Amino acid sequence: MNSRRSFIQQLGLGMALPAISGFDFPSRSISTFPSSDLQGEDFWTELRSQFPLTTDRVYLNNGTFGPAPFSVLQAMEASNLQINTSGEYGNSDQERVKLAEFFRIKPTEFSITHNTTEGINIMAWGVPMKSGDEVILTTHEHAGNALPWLNRAKLDGIVLRTFEPKSTQAENLTEIQKLINPRTKVIAIPHVTCTTGLVFPIKEICEIARKKGILTAIDGAHGAGTFDLDLYDLGCDFYAGCFHKWMLGPSGTAFLFIREESLEKLKAVMIGGHSDIGWDMTANPPEFKGYVPSARRFDYGTQSKSLAVGMVAAADFHNQIGKQQVQSRVKELNQYLFDGLVKLGSKIEILTPLEEESRISIVSFRTKNMDFNACGAELGKAGFRIRLVHEGKVNAVRVSTHVYNSKAELDAFLKELGRILA
Ligand SMILES: Cc1ncc(COP(=O)(O)O)c(C=O)c1O
Repeated sequence: MNSRRSFIQQLGLGMALPAISGFDFPSRSISTFPSSDLQGEDFWTELRSQFPLTTDRVYLNNGTFGPAPFSVLQAMEASNLQINTSGEYGNSDQERVKLAEFFRIKPTEFSITHNTTEGINIMAWGVPMKSGDEVILTTHEHAGNALPWLNRAKLDGIVLRTFEPKSTQAENLTEIQKLINPRTKVIAIPHVTCTTGLVFPIKEICEIARKKGILTAIDGAHGAGTFDLDLYDLGCDFYAGCFHKWMLGPSGTAFLFIREESLEKLKAVMIGGHSDIGWDMTANPPEFKGYVPSARRFDYGTQSKSLAVGMVAAADFHNQIGKQQVQSRVKELNQYLFDGLVKLGSKIEILTPLEEESRISIVSFRTKNMDFNACGAELGKAGFRIRLVHEGKVNAVRVSTHVYNSKAELDAFLKELGRILA
């Protein structure tokens, strides 16, 4: 038993994590970033030691929570200590510049939020709509994208039009086009669904929307940190993403991209300190001079500087590996898992599309002769952290993998799944 585990157990915080037989996990240690001389699996095995993530079980749930590497945790801790030593908390303007650059957008287009849901609420309440106006969503929404729009529908009488995602990009484009009519004001779909990990052709969808004067408000919870994103080029008006999943950043950090040309189209419902260009409560009547001409108007009030520093460290981590390399490794692991699941034959039904461009980092499947909850429980007992998908009544097991996962872990998972389903 390693020292950290026993420390966690002494605190009573640790759950018993079963060992996985026949699989040697690398031991945990902080090491220097892997040399670029290392090739293939050697590089990724070495990279794994950059994460404190337990090796007592196999973590296959990055789609819910992306564990941060040491560099992010250390950057946050150092910043926190510095702030609490000096008593100077500063602001996150410097970090905003670096974070915007990461997504190839202007700092004035980048609002710092706390989670994807906050960004989605800003979009859902900010888009100008009246009763009867329509928004297009899927039947596979996460609560974070469903509830803000459902709430707007409840309170303002807007109409939500949904479609069941199909398994190719061409079919999904057709589905969306079928729902568009003169009342359509917004397309508010996810970049990648939380259910089956389906990737929508956002660029093409945004092109169609723009030509028809429809706003695009994308739920990007699974976009940042998987794709090498160019948010401007993607063409959407608004894109809500987070840093606590695929960016491997601090928990409780996120962003909202607001395209410069679309800034004035989004009503600023909640504002505060730094959202404004001036106000005066002593004037008669009290005066509000207006908003700052940037997405900064949406991240009002005090923000955590050390969290923003952690976000930059996460972006640096991705840059250090190379954003293209991250994307291709994520795809490689996804393909490896997909191929392994295909080999299980008729015991499972893979719900994630076969079409390569329609998936990136997630594979979901139904078990044919076993309840999916029971299968998930068995996998958990065997030491594999997966997620069950209930959204959209999909009822499936979801596996999501990132750069710290290895093919050996996926082999162990596939072997165990085969045993459970035998
Ligand atoms: C597709 C999707 N949208 C929104 C969310 C909500 O994200 P957050 O917890 O950052 O608000 C999630 C979380 O898993 C998600 O998968």
